[in-house]
Amino acid sequence: MLRFLWLKDAADCPTPADGFLPPAEISAADRERVLALLGQLTERPPTEIDLADVAAAPDTFIVAAVANDEPGLPEGIVGMATLIRLRKLTGLSGHVEDVVVDEACRGRGLAKTLMGHLHDAGRALKLKHINLTSQPQRETANRLYQQLGYERRDTNAYRLTLIP
Ligand SMILES: CC(C)(COP(=O)(O)OP(=O)(O)OC[C@H]1O[C@@H](n2cnc3c(N)ncnc32)[C@H](O)[C@@H]1OP(=O)(O)O)[C@@H](O)C(=O)NCCC(=O)NCCS
Repeated sequence: MLRFLWLKDAADCPTPADGFLPPAEISAADRERVLALLGQLTERPPTEIDLADVAAAPDTFIVAAVANDEPGLPEGIVGMATLIRLRKLTGLSGHVEDVVVDEACRGRGLAKTLMGHLHDAGRALKLKHINLTSQPQRETANRLYQQLGYERRDTNAYRLTLIP
């Protein structure tokens, strides 16, 4: 079975997806799976994370694809995507981060479904728009976002490094 679960308590989440994995019930195995996914997302993944703490943050909405006894798939969290709600003076908006699907599960529409749940949540949260960035060499991801209706913006992305 493959389900799409919010890593949130039901009361803290605007839409149900297929259900919830409350932060208090996140296991060491869940954390290991998320660390493994981050290893497929970034060249310098963290070695430890406080997944429950991040998932419980009021403006953070993480949806996970969770496989149980699904032939050919690893067990547990096999994909995830995060929506961050931004409360600004100009209104509510969202930012998408950490979109990744396990290599063994790609090309089955998991990312599209994960993103769909973020969009449902964004509408329920009354966000005006959702922004994201994706490096040009991530060709699959860039194609996916454009298929989903994201439009390329003509703006400069800047970063100030505070902790090298
Ligand atoms: C980008 C990513 C999340 C897409 O996940 P996914 O679940 O495979 O995506 P989907 O199955 O929903 O499909 C998205 C598109 O990619 C294509 N695709 C994905 N994996 C594929 C594969 N192994 N072979 C062929 N096509 C593939 C799909 O066919 C689809 O394109 P289409 O609609 O034109 O056919 C995944 O490739 C990934 O985790 N990449 C590494 C991390 C990354 O780049 N994250 C994005 C950061 S901005």
